[in-house]
Amino acid sequence: MSSTPAPTLPATLALARPELLVSRCLIDGAWRDAADGRRFAVTDPASGALLAEVPDCGAADAAAAVDAAQRAFAAWRRATSRERAALLKRWHAAILANQEDLARLISLEQGKPLAESRGEVLYGASYVEWFAEEAQRIHGDILPQAQAGKQLFVLKEPVGVVAAITPWNFPLAMLARKIAPALAAGCAVVAKPAEDTPLTALALARLLQEAGAPAGLVNVLPASRAQTPAVADAWLADARVRKISFTGSTAVGKHLARASADTLKKVSLELGGNAPFIVFDDADVDAAVAGLMAAKFRNAGQTCVCPNRVLVQDGIHDTFVAALARAVAALRVGPADGGSAEIGPLINQRALAKVQHHVEDALAKGARLVTGGARHDCAEAPHGHFFTPTVLAGATADMRFNHEETFGPMVPVFRFATEAEAIALANATPYGLAAYFYSRDIARVWDVAQALEAGMVGVNEGALSSEAAPFGGIKESGYGREGSRYGLDDYLHTKYVCQGNLARHARA
Ligand code: SIN
Repeated sequence: MSSTPAPTLPATLALARPELLVSRCLIDGAWRDAADGRRFAVTDPASGALLAEVPDCGAADAAAAVDAAQRAFAAWRRATSRERAALLKRWHAAILANQEDLARLISLEQGKPLAESRGEVLYGASYVEWFAEEAQRIHGDILPQAQAGKQLFVLKEPVGVVAAITPWNFPLAMLARKIAPALAAGCAVVAKPAEDTPLTALALARLLQEAGAPAGLVNVLPASRAQTPAVADAWLADARVRKISFTGSTAVGKHLARASADTLKKVSLELGGNAPFIVFDDADVDAAVAGLMAAKFRNAGQTCVCPNRVLVQDGIHDTFVAALARAVAALRVGPADGGSAEIGPLINQRALAKVQHHVEDALAKGARLVTGGARHDCAEAPHGHFFTPTVLAGATADMRFNHEETFGPMVPVFRFATEAEAIALANATPYGLAAYFYSRDIARVWDVAQALEAGMVGVNEGALSSEAAPFGGIKESGYGREGSRYGLDDYLHTKYVCQGNLARHARA
């Protein structure tokens, strides 16, 4: 299947099944090259080593994938709920059976420490299992009879072909949580993984094929940054694509929403965030530090729900910053195959430059460096894009990170005096994905949870993601939900059927 020579992987990340490192795209059940034969390189962000060359798909491949998905959809929409569930259960089992290889692929192309990659595999698998179960609970409705001689029904039907465009930060979980609800609902999928991380997506597709997915039901098309617009534009213009589900930047999300308007596709957008993390004077400081560490340093800070701004009340500010600095300075930075690393490299040079820029901008505007603050030189991986975990105190609203997601291991701490001040600062952003706060005052808990403008709120909790909960944002963080029963709605239409002339049931 592989058409480029097998790379030499670090021994600690070698695959038990080398055939899971796939270097072709999947269209209509066949592993192919791009129509024009182009390929692009996938590299390890820690070492810069070449991992594979994969097809650089374009408009012709995108159209072929929709043709295949449309054919597959015609049959899959008629599959029973149990048949859909059974396929998802087999896929779930295949993911678990190959979890170590999948984790290694994530670490290889994305750079996150192996322990985190293992966690991501289980996290992604949990969505597949959840939607295997949910596939069997898609209920319509029979409405109360409002008029004599008429019966009103509500049917839930699959929207059709779904285009899934996924990011590099969770290359397995983000794709799994789009494909699983789509298949549960009876849809077919054309998917484009991020250019930095196509290998995990291709392996996932291979396991789905092994689980018995019909040809064309899920098609996976890698594309380079240069070719991505050709693939996306082909899907946006194609009226047979009835839904776009995108996770990524707000700028791209807005473009997709605009460009979907001509064919009025259903759109789900999980976009950027600028999450506040508020610690009130009455909080348990140790719990708040632990919650912040878990939320902020997941994937080296490259997570949409990572706290981007930490707001700490006067009374505990200094105690909190000192405890945070100790925890942050103790983090171990290094490549995924190093064994003990907790913070991996940033995905590429642009990501590293952005964190550096946010730190420099803040220091120039008066922030105080508490710990970190510079690129991390890593002896085992001198070409990696590592940044030393950083804490800045004295953050102010004019600093760049207050308006832009840093997406890296940097924690800026603001000081505030009153609850009203904290809420105003937290909400002073166009984004509204996640927000967190720590308080032991039960009345405050309800007031603040309601006042925060965010799609998800963590109260005394830094880990809020779950397959059982609706993940998604408000404001410029997007719309649509992933996970839970709400996550299925985005892949379903509501059809109303009115059956008339039921004279025998009409009252005389
Ligand atoms: C994301 O960063 O987009 C997703 C994170 C999560 O699912 O928790």
